Amino acid sequence: HTTPYILPSLLAADWSKVAAEVKRAEDVGVEVLHLDVMDGAFVDNISFGPQMVQTVRKCTSMYLDVHLMIHRPDHYLERFLQAGADNITIHVEARYDTSVVETLRRIRAAGKHAGLALHPDTPFEAAIPYAQEIDLLLIMTVVPGFGGQPFMEKETMPKLAAARDYRDAHGLKYNLEVDGGIYIHTAPIAKAHGANAFVCGTSFYGREDTAAAMAGLTQCVS
Ligand code: DX5
Ligand code: ZN
Repeated sequence: HTTPYILPSLLAADWSKVAAEVKRAEDVGVEVLHLDVMDGAFVDNISFGPQMVQTVRKCTSMYLDVHLMIHRPDHYLERFLQAGADNITIHVEARYDTSVVETLRRIRAAGKHAGLALHPDTPFEAAIPYAQEIDLLLIMTVVPGFGGQPFMEKETMPKLAAARDYRDAHGLKYNLEVDGGIYIHTAPIAKAHGANAFVCGTSFYGREDTAAAMAGLTQCVS
């Protein structure tokens, strides 16, 4: 949880050429790709499901970080595992047939990494019962649902710092990921509050020169 990672989000890529867009990331040294799954119910947008994850899996050996912005993630879990996700992040605020803890345990039992995400309105305390069950805590820095929104610094940075301090005080090891509005001017702020994984949609795929984007983003958090 100390190595910084830049995670391009495929949401901001050109979907008319998904394979090429995946390769565009891999070619500039990206190790982890972020995939945003939205169900039109948990969030006010619909993106893609397991079939797209599987499509991306066929294009690359990069680590796939799958962010489930969906209700009943436990119901759909097997399909995302089958599709080739390496990390699956679920939202604490979602509805479950079973429970958050059971879902996290199933992800780990499958040999994958388990992440828990917090909406900007959700306090860090909501994650405490799961602190031992997770490999990653995702602090959303925008209201989930859309790319291209501004970084919510005031609302989310104290929570990020609290998540870092709690982890360090309890000898835990979860990674701290931020997602939404991450650019070269906001990533260092998130880093200063404890983030080591930086999801970059617009700031990566929105750029023509992805090599320059990757270099700039990597440098600003190193
Ligand atoms: C928002 C998604 C993000 C989004 C980030 O709901 O979870 O991953 O793609 O996009 P940018 O970097 O453009 O804010
Ligand atoms: Zn995301």
